[in-house]
Amino acid sequence: MRRSHFRPPDILPASTPPPNALQAAVITHLGAQAPRFVIDWVDECVSTNIALIENTPADDGRVHVLVAERQSAGRGRRGRQWQSWPDGSLTFSSVWHFARGTPAPAGLSLVAGVAVARALERLGVVGLQLKWPNDVLVNGEKLVGILVELSTGRARGLAAVIGIGINLRLPPDVRIEAQAGVTDLAHALDGDVPGRPALLAALLAELDNLLATYASGGFPAVKGAWEQRNAFAELPVRICGDEASLEGICAGVDDDGALLLRTATGTQRILAGDVSLRPLGGDAP
Ligand code: BTN
Repeated sequence: MRRSHFRPPDILPASTPPPNALQAAVITHLGAQAPRFVIDWVDECVSTNIALIENTPADDGRVHVLVAERQSAGRGRRGRQWQSWPDGSLTFSSVWHFARGTPAPAGLSLVAGVAVARALERLGVVGLQLKWPNDVLVNGEKLVGILVELSTGRARGLAAVIGIGINLRLPPDVRIEAQAGVTDLAHALDGDVPGRPALLAALLAELDNLLATYASGGFPAVKGAWEQRNAFAELPVRICGDEASLEGICAGVDDDGALLLRTATGTQRILAGDVSLRPLGGDAP
């Protein structure tokens, strides 16, 4: 799984602790929840999602987590690339197993968004909102990207890989280039960014709690928490697919996490897959 141990000294500050110290720090921050997790923190891989899909750990009752300083081909939704910066991002994936015979987990990517939002709210971020299916926004700008992929390979059952990328401190040129649309935790917390081990531990703990709720109650048990943070509730939006788009009012989500779009011809149910949501009009975040 470890592709390279190369870490140029001009990219990472000398004070950055080596990965094994980072792993140990996460375990310390997890406290009583630590036995639930196996943490691997590497210098570089192609993509933490790809690594865990290609080599999914068997279900041993624990959550396997892979964190990478650098991804050579970080994956985003809809075939896009995900860019991250050593020390300026937190980039990780985790594997969650489902009982044999469980149908494809509906609404899981929305559940991951709620867990991330809750963890960040606990750390003091205010004004967090969710953009369907699972972008985490602050003041309308994207702070976190989430990519949920299913693995059925060696896992001997259904497993979901939840990949999360959080912008901690965007390089100044990236901020200028992106202008509005992208933000980082340094801005959301007025510079008071927690260390990555503490942040990762907070996220894992919240994911673990919320996925337990989801395992017993399904998406309906989490739907209210998602709706509370819906950035586009009752606002006009456009749903864009590769070849067509559809406009309407964002009327929330159903019990499977599908978006409900109120259109001139009735309410349409939109499944995540290969579509994205864009605001229409001036007042939307
Ligand atoms: C998106 O907003 O398009 C989703 C971005 C997901 C990025 C994370 S970073 C960790 C994990 N590994 C990947 O290759 N992608 C996800």
